[in-house]
Amino acid sequence: PGARGEQGDLAGVRVVVSAGGTREPFDPVRFVGNRSSGRQGVAIAADAARRGAVVTLVAANVDGGLTAGLDATVVPVGSAQELADAVHAAAAEADVVVMTAAVADYRPAEVREAKLKKDDQGDRMTLELVRNPDVLADLVAARRTGQIIVGFAAETEPDREARLALGRAKIARKPADLLVVNHVGWSSGFEREENAIEVLVPGGHVVRETSGTKAEVAAAVLDLVATALT
Ligand code: CTP
Ligand code: CA
Repeated sequence: PGARGEQGDLAGVRVVVSAGGTREPFDPVRFVGNRSSGRQGVAIAADAARRGAVVTLVAANVDGGLTAGLDATVVPVGSAQELADAVHAAAAEADVVVMTAAVADYRPAEVREAKLKKDDQGDRMTLELVRNPDVLADLVAARRTGQIIVGFAAETEPDREARLALGRAKIARKPADLLVVNHVGWSSGFEREENAIEVLVPGGHVVRETSGTKAEVAAAVLDLVATALT
């Protein structure tokens, strides 16, 4: 591959990818989090760069070993609010935004200055959570003409039709250009190499269905992005 932005079907296209899982702190040493490794987003960033794109990866708690050597500007973030700020800043100058990150829907209502002590909590403890901003919904609302926005929906529903119904409801609520429905569970999707996806467009039509490594899924998604840009 030559210098970035010079060749390939995404030559010079400015792509922002969010990856990983946000961590929502409630004291200096603890957080509410999720199991997203960031591998799918890193695979998309790597393939976009290989195809000539100028890539920014907003990486939420992604292991540095996964992003080492990536031909991208990596912006590390922790919480959903930090991810939102970084993605919106980068999206202002982007042609494509791909939201693979698992953004926490809720964060602790209160963040303590000092470590919580169990003697103050007793045998049972309640953590109050408040809703985080929806980055994808806000990106879609602020979308510029020609800008392509891709969402990823992690669903545990094993039945294909039921899973597609969940995806269709999601893309109706947040009309991204593409919604990649990703089947996850206790043992599939997260922290593994293989992935199975169905890709929906507004209206709910399935434009692609495939399974394979995260690199193969990345290539399939970016093929659709390249087509949408032309
Ligand atoms: N997303 C986001 N900001 C949030 C929550 C989700 O940008 N606060 C994005 C994710 O990055 C993903 C898409 O929305 O691209 C779908 O995320 P998902 O968790 O599957 O859907 P939700 O709309 O949060 O609905 P739910 O979790 O209830 O299924
Ligand atoms: Ca969610």
